[in-house]
Amino acid sequence: KERVFSGVQPTGNLHLGNYLGAIKRFVALQDGYDCIYCVVDLHAITVPQNPDELRGQIREVTAAFIAAGIDPARNIVFNQSQVHEHAELAWIFNCVARMGWLNRMTQFKEKAGKDREAASVGLFAYPTLMAADILAYRATHVPVGEDQKQHLELTRDIAQKFNNDWSAAIAANGFGEAFFPLTEPLIGGPAARVMSLRDGTKKMSKSDPSDNSRINLTDDAEAIAQKIRKAKTDPEPLPSEERGLEARPEADNLVGIYAALADRTKAEVLADHGGAQFSAFKAALIDLAVDKLSPITAEMKRLTGDPAYIDGVLAEGAERAGAIARETLDAVKDIVGFVRRR
Ligand code: TYM
Repeated sequence: KERVFSGVQPTGNLHLGNYLGAIKRFVALQDGYDCIYCVVDLHAITVPQNPDELRGQIREVTAAFIAAGIDPARNIVFNQSQVHEHAELAWIFNCVARMGWLNRMTQFKEKAGKDREAASVGLFAYPTLMAADILAYRATHVPVGEDQKQHLELTRDIAQKFNNDWSAAIAANGFGEAFFPLTEPLIGGPAARVMSLRDGTKKMSKSDPSDNSRINLTDDAEAIAQKIRKAKTDPEPLPSEERGLEARPEADNLVGIYAALADRTKAEVLADHGGAQFSAFKAALIDLAVDKLSPITAEMKRLTGDPAYIDGVLAEGAERAGAIARETLDAVKDIVGFVRRR
């Protein structure tokens, strides 16, 4: 079976973009692949975090995975800091990746802002840790939203350079031509990039100061309805074909959200709702969103009330993830030329 790996940061509220762009797709992949899903707490501290809140958010993301339908018995669910191989492999990748590669990362430029000198070294090296997450399991596929595309290209560059730089040692250790796979991103569907409800040209994000810009996975039915009712739209009715959404970012976004929640394509949604006014379409979207999200919100709430259960899931997941990552690290150490403890 091919192997899927993906991660979600435990920083602030999970929102509809995280759910439709990532978590909902994780659930769909569990039948066809061997899946590993990680709460990336080491990545979270690349910017300041409150320790008590961080602990709560790690458990909340874990609860969201399970509430959304990821079965922790069939898949591996764990948090990154419990498997030290991630940090170890990241160090080796820091010595593979080039400064120039990391300098081009748009997420670093956005997150560091104007004062780059004040950004943590961890924030700069963020993508090498992400490559380590994926390649510690030699994962073949990574489901993510559109915003992670550049990081996945970098992961492939690191894998390729590692395979090239140590090609003789890789062959000598019995791994043939290449040790790391060139991982394929799985980006797509109608919600690969969910936009802000207040501005169809901006990504829906945890850091947007306006809570009305996003639907949080912890929002109740009333909040969901309010936010969709207030969502920005244009005055025209919905088009009946997809090309009618061009240059209408807000309409495109709401149709995409509807399609992803309903497991349909945007074309199918427009075949049903083309010609409708936004008042009517928003009412349908509210019903659909509440119907799909409320059970997840309720189950998340129940699960976060039982931290001992969550911590047990994470411990078992770390055990299983660690066994795979350890094998990779042992091989990497042999390839690079370290003397291992025997
Ligand atoms: P993070 O925590 O920011 O987001 C988690 C997932 O949600 C997706 N996403 C979106 N998808 C559609 N529309 C949006 N508006 C939207 N906002 C977020 C993200 O693309 C992501 O899939 N660097 C990663 C975490 C990570 C990771 C990894 C991912 C660390 N190691 C290894 C995959 C593999 C991040 O910051 O995601």
